[in-house]
Amino acid sequence: MPIFFNSEKKIFKLDTKGSSYIFAINEDGILVHTYYGAPIKDLDLGYLNENFTTPGICPKPHYAPGGRFTLDTAPVEFPCTGTGDYRPAAFSVRSAQGHTATLVHYLSHKIYGGKPALEGLPATFAGEDEATTLEILTEDRHTGIRVTLFYTVFEDLSVMTRHVTVENPTDTAVNIERIYSTSVDFHTHDYDVIHLHGHHCRERNYSRTRLDYATHRISSLRGASGAEHNPFMALVSPDATENYGEAYGFNLVYSGNFAAEVNVECYGSARVAMGINSDGFNWLLEPGEHFTAPEAVMVYSNEGLGGMSRTFHNLYRKHLMRGEWLTKRRPVLINNWEATAMNFDGEKLYEFAKKASELGIEMLVLDDGWFGKRNNARCALGDWVVNEEKLGGTMNDLVTRINALGVKFGLWFEPEMISPDSDLYRAHPDWCLHIEGRPMSLGRFQLILDLTRKEVEDYVFESMCRVLDSANIEYVKWDFNRNFTETGSAALPAERQKEVPHRYVLALYRLLERLLNRYPHLLLEGCASGGGRFDPGMLYYSPQIWTSDCSDAIERLDIQYGTTMCYPPSSMGAHVSASPNHQTKRISPLSTRGNVALEGTFGYELDPSTFTEEECETVRAQVRQYHELYDVTHFGDLYRLVSPFDGDRDRSAWMQVTEDKREALVTLVIIRTHVGQRQYLRLCGLDPEKQYRDVATGRTYSGALLMNAGLCLNTLVGDGASRLIHLVAED
Ligand code: DGJ
Repeated sequence: MPIFFNSEKKIFKLDTKGSSYIFAINEDGILVHTYYGAPIKDLDLGYLNENFTTPGICPKPHYAPGGRFTLDTAPVEFPCTGTGDYRPAAFSVRSAQGHTATLVHYLSHKIYGGKPALEGLPATFAGEDEATTLEILTEDRHTGIRVTLFYTVFEDLSVMTRHVTVENPTDTAVNIERIYSTSVDFHTHDYDVIHLHGHHCRERNYSRTRLDYATHRISSLRGASGAEHNPFMALVSPDATENYGEAYGFNLVYSGNFAAEVNVECYGSARVAMGINSDGFNWLLEPGEHFTAPEAVMVYSNEGLGGMSRTFHNLYRKHLMRGEWLTKRRPVLINNWEATAMNFDGEKLYEFAKKASELGIEMLVLDDGWFGKRNNARCALGDWVVNEEKLGGTMNDLVTRINALGVKFGLWFEPEMISPDSDLYRAHPDWCLHIEGRPMSLGRFQLILDLTRKEVEDYVFESMCRVLDSANIEYVKWDFNRNFTETGSAALPAERQKEVPHRYVLALYRLLERLLNRYPHLLLEGCASGGGRFDPGMLYYSPQIWTSDCSDAIERLDIQYGTTMCYPPSSMGAHVSASPNHQTKRISPLSTRGNVALEGTFGYELDPSTFTEEECETVRAQVRQYHELYDVTHFGDLYRLVSPFDGDRDRSAWMQVTEDKREALVTLVIIRTHVGQRQYLRLCGLDPEKQYRDVATGRTYSGALLMNAGLCLNTLVGDGASRLIHLVAED
């Protein structure tokens, strides 16, 4: 039984094949955490919580004023504010009288097969025989507010998910001021913390720091999960490497304001917590109402960071991402943005598609600038009406011509936005997020639509449908290019204004769900000025996300390395772009641009008419290669071999291996050449007993040899040089 309750000792034990998680109900009904880590058989770990230092200054519970138990130091499952626990709290409710002292106590529980959906929120899913769920009903005795803690274990995956619902069964309204989705107390702080930081064009760079007596907190207040921090955090043992050591990964299935923190308290224990950012948040809970907080995914690995990442990838591919495009082969696309920006017409696009089709490219994605008067970034967002003058006909005329070339068609939208210079704004100036009387900040000259208003959500949906119904559009790039400011809604009362950021995210999810229900065959690619909203919430709707507006192959090594900490390679939109690169001016070989893009969902982002005949041949070969290697790149297990963040930051290498270990693809990129530098790569994840043939050279090696002595790639020299090694097992 993956979830077991010992009714005598009042202990819960949650097991997956790779982890155990244990907590107990104490004499007063407080849920006290005892263990999370590698699988163990033992049940009663209460001894770990004995003999805490509890100086007289620590408040003791009213029922045991002389005892040792104190919320000041005890590891607790769902910490609350104002009742003796001074570490970051997971929950705080403000009573009708204005007090925020909160403490939840156990009432009852149930255990069942499967996993419940989260109302209005994306979440992992599982069949009855794939996961088991524990629901614990708790109550704050003073206010009568009830909180249900959900724990689901994916037995075969070393994954546990948690989320929380709150209900108000009383006859007075309360305010939820803080609600995290998970909180885990560790007995020691002998860990490093890893998180992903960055900014526009440099998303999800890797950071690893030793824990200290302080709080390490990452967050977003931008209305989206953001490029600056990702809702991912890991605690790893100080000796953890890619293949060895312990790693606890936490990832929030949410696309809005989040916070994740790890706090080391004065006696040395550590608390990791994650959920909706409490800054700027409040939720009024009227009598009879309930609230659902997003899901947190928790992965435990004692096979290092690589094991943690592969578990996340498997979970997301099988239990989060949906729709036919998960398994159906994604087309090689070409996007016109970096080549033309908004300077195009129908003829230019047709020529683009024609040239692309000669190269084997399968889809043209028309980016920004096809609607309203949109010829620059200063206007027209919200006016989702095809600019027929610019296209030289209807959207259908253009798409029909392009389809006749054997090329599919995809289209860019930025559905959540409104330009002050737009017909939509002139008709509905109050449809944007704003605060009456306060000047509005513009981001990229635009404002954000108030999606919390049903009529606005409907307008966006209907105007998108009108375009999508008018032609054979098989792909949508869903962009989002500014952060929240002056976050107010004209349609909500004063006491609900702090609900706007979360209500907005709920409306966004509703809109995405409506779109996919109406167009079940649509391939959706998420985007937010590149990878500014790359999170599990968006992956639930879009199986690929534009990883970064920086398409430079060398910069992408860092970005893609960090992104794969928890997101599957197949979710990373990765395109070959022009050289010198638009953003960095760096020159890199076409082969390397292709080899780096091959790690993710492959495409092009340049003007194909600029290619020489030799380059055309290279592109044709790259497209063929993408198809030949599809199974290994899209469904294979990822092993990061050399981190671009390590040592001299002079190279990066990774490999992907099919589940049956019959095929592998190894990629090595030299960032900076040192004269005479040796290039040995010890591989991972192969079958030691199998013989592997290097498809390019015909040479065979045993799996054991490749994983121990490794490959010798000393002939690879030159800044930006790269090599792909395709290995196939001999029968
Ligand atoms: C930002 C995106 O990240 C780009 O790829 C492009 O779509 C532009 N927006 C268009 O405005």
